[in-house]
Amino acid sequence: MENLVQDLTILNENNAENCETVKTTPDQNTGKGRKLYIESYGCQMNFADSEIVASILNKEGFDTTSDIAQADVVFLNTCSIREKAEQTVRNRLTHINGLKKQKPELLVGVLGCMAERLKSKFLEEEKIVDLVAGPDAYRDLPQLINQVDEGEKAINTFLSREETYADITPVRLNSNGVTAFISIMRGCDNMCTFCVVPFTRGRERSRDPQSIVAEAQDLFNKGFREVTLLGQNVDSYKWSAEENNKAWLEKKGITNTVTFANLLEMVAQVSPELRIRFSTSHPKDITDDVLHTMAKYENICKYIHLPVQSGNSRILDMMNRGYTREWYLDKIKSIRNILGESCGISSDMITGFCSETEEEHKETLSLMDAVQYDFAYMFFYSERPGTLAEKKFKDDIDEETKKRRLNEIIQKQTAHSLQRNKLDVGKIHQVLVEGFSKRSDEYLQGRNTANKVVVFPKENFSKGQYVNVLVTDCTGATLLGKAVH
Ligand code: SAH
Ligand code: SF4
Ligand code: F3S
Repeated sequence: MENLVQDLTILNENNAENCETVKTTPDQNTGKGRKLYIESYGCQMNFADSEIVASILNKEGFDTTSDIAQADVVFLNTCSIREKAEQTVRNRLTHINGLKKQKPELLVGVLGCMAERLKSKFLEEEKIVDLVAGPDAYRDLPQLINQVDEGEKAINTFLSREETYADITPVRLNSNGVTAFISIMRGCDNMCTFCVVPFTRGRERSRDPQSIVAEAQDLFNKGFREVTLLGQNVDSYKWSAEENNKAWLEKKGITNTVTFANLLEMVAQVSPELRIRFSTSHPKDITDDVLHTMAKYENICKYIHLPVQSGNSRILDMMNRGYTREWYLDKIKSIRNILGESCGISSDMITGFCSETEEEHKETLSLMDAVQYDFAYMFFYSERPGTLAEKKFKDDIDEETKKRRLNEIIQKQTAHSLQRNKLDVGKIHQVLVEGFSKRSDEYLQGRNTANKVVVFPKENFSKGQYVNVLVTDCTGATLLGKAVH
């Protein structure tokens, strides 16, 4: 057991970063199509978008492949959130350049946030790129590919106020058949000063709730048992009844606007056997209504990702986050009051934002002590061209200090994650099995309601089942236990 514990810790630490990871497309073979290979970087929304892209191009006769050497078309779905994310893509393009030398007809396209940020500059800077498409331009991909086939470079970075791809059924890529993402909105209107997303993803818009519920139902019918509702700020989800769904909404008791709490409830009602998660919540917008809806439905997971960014109110104000330290801590109190101590809470944090003093950094550390997060994604500030912070403030904290502060919060979080996990030892957790543990086919792995990875001996259980597991041991990243019968 001891060895397994250590190996699992390493694996989970490697996998901890939800940003800047890569996933490739699986194999499909109709034997007639051109072969499409997509690599995705960045947040879950980008991964969900790659599934839309695959769906659009499947209809045009493309098959997906997981082997870049087999591909006729290579797409990189890119992220701009930090400089490092963009550098990763540039390095990848250098590698792909080598492939293109051997196969000159290979079509190379850049999609996503970096495409949107750099637009035609991409075609100038990276000569091997044939096609550039922003996040709202994916319906245009067949036409853009035709254009490249005719010997031109192709670009569409038009940002829409309406596009939600509501009618497109995503082709589930790299799916475990148990858990899936559903995009419920696109864009962001928040204008946090450090953030490039409002510029790369455009204005916030919500997707028709009827299409969201239909997608959840369809996934459930296909055997999926968990959906994660995705948006940059899910709490500002808003939909006003339209002619085509007025009657449908009235049947659900809604006569005016659909809020996020309403939407959660509608999706939770698809089946008690379908788990619901959501990401990301914004501290200024999450309502008690949402918390009460979570409490009311057993199948809405008791886990909230509530990024704080900083524990100091002056920095939060400079970041334009719209809340103070005290407001944030009050929200945590409401979560604990309504959902209890065991509700999972995680965060994102940035160290070394413009003018952050040592005292202000210490307030982030003390906020962490007060909240006791289960998990956190932690970054040092990376100035992004075109953002409000770049225009208004000086990026004046040296890299060494930024990284030292980052290390301090990582160390604190590592200790907290272990302390929080220890509270789960000795208790029975309901686990939805997602597949084999990464280390051994003798063990299965899934998550409990609070989003913690639980590993246990396989016995006769299988993927997609709910299993009650008595947790007997833990690391900072994983709970270990045994099924109870
Ligand atoms: N919509 C989410 C965050 C999306 S970006 C929210 O509002 O919380 C994911 C995380 O990346 C952010 O929460 C932030 O912690 C980090 N991030 C964003 N811009 C950054 C930058 N310029 N430098 C460092 N980290 C950044
Ligand atoms: Fe960026 Fe802020 Fe929008 Fe999140 S809420 S995507 S951090 S602007
Ligand atoms: Fe990156 Fe764009 Fe997501 S910048 S984090 S891929 S919205």
